[in-house]
Amino acid sequence: MIAVEDILKGHRTAEARWARFGPYYAMFPVDFAFEVVEKYSKVGDYIIDPFAGRCSSIYAGGVLGRNSLGIEINPVGWLFGTVKLQPADKEDVIDRLLEIYGKRNDFTEQMKQMPEFYRICYCDEVLKFLLSAREALNWKVDNIDATLMSILLIYLHAKLGEGLSNQMRMTKSMGLNYSVKWWKSKGMETPPEINPCDFIVKKIDWRYEKGKPSIKFDSRVIFGDSSEKLINISDKAIENDIKFSLLFTSPPYCSITDYHADQWLRLWLLGGAENPQSLKDKHKGRFVNKQEYYDLLDNVFGLCSKMMKTNSTVYVRTDKREFTFNSTIEILKKHFPTHKVQIVEKPLKEDTKTQTKLYGDKSMKPGEVDIIMTR
Ligand SMILES: C[S@@+](CC[C@H](N)C(=O)[O-])C[C@H]1O[C@@H](n2cnc3c(N)ncnc32)[C@H](O)[C@@H]1O
Repeated sequence: MIAVEDILKGHRTAEARWARFGPYYAMFPVDFAFEVVEKYSKVGDYIIDPFAGRCSSIYAGGVLGRNSLGIEINPVGWLFGTVKLQPADKEDVIDRLLEIYGKRNDFTEQMKQMPEFYRICYCDEVLKFLLSAREALNWKVDNIDATLMSILLIYLHAKLGEGLSNQMRMTKSMGLNYSVKWWKSKGMETPPEINPCDFIVKKIDWRYEKGKPSIKFDSRVIFGDSSEKLINISDKAIENDIKFSLLFTSPPYCSITDYHADQWLRLWLLGGAENPQSLKDKHKGRFVNKQEYYDLLDNVFGLCSKMMKTNSTVYVRTDKREFTFNSTIEILKKHFPTHKVQIVEKPLKEDTKTQTKLYGDKSMKPGEVDIIMTR
């Protein structure tokens, strides 16, 4: 087995190159995910992440030879995860790109009706191409389409020159009105002229330069709500006598991040609304309702506990703020009553991209904490 440092060094291996696939707000640093999997599980073990995000835990598990199962409710995170675990062949992705680009329609009338945001964000050629891809790509069921779509999602917005858009952040979509005002205030109302096909072909070349990652054992991520999906999964695991060795996750933080609103532009490309929407559905907003938040964690960790080995490890990274931290620890102790609890305030490795640091407001941040439970 190659050492984790060798797998992740620079972009030298296919595994390293695909590991960081998909910018996602509030993501695990990749080397942290690999270190936890390496330290707390063995080759052939089963690991689970019920709040998988862009699936670094599951990917690390797959690369390191663990059977890994993730669940994610946000289609953006799910798509990044599912594709990095099993990208389609490069030639097929390029062929599909050329087909979509070649068949792009004249969306002039539709483009005129769209909010001003889109016409400042993208030049006509890019917007036409995006509308075409949005209409044609069957990303939920087709692996080639999923791979192409996830690559488009990555470059949908970024710093000027690094993506298809006018100046934007990469991890999080900025608000629609906010962006328009900001571009105008900076005299940036003209989007960059980009040939989307040439641009994306270069990105595909770079991504596949070292090949595809080698994922050992069965590693996958399921799209949906953990509190529902886990019912069936735990029944099946019990039926097949499968026991998980490591529960490794980072749940949403109460009242902090709205993963759907933060990804609104990527969700638009996946077929969602033209304007950012705060989804009213449970588990798709900012988790402002404390009881619902508590019940979600209670439910999910309760269902997971039924599938874990007696001597399993539970590794949960969360927010240090009182409500999130106290609820999480109380729920974990309830479902894993015989595990020893260790609290680590500093992550395994000093990193600069923690979820709270990324959140970007100016108030004091209490930081994150790792809850590690072992027998
Ligand atoms: C803190 S993030 C996880 C980030 C992840 N560790 C990574 O490296 O990308 C929490 C994730 O939980 C997801 N989530 C929230 N409620 C969920 C639910 N009921 N079922 C499944 N996923 C959920 C959110 O969409 C978000 O992606």
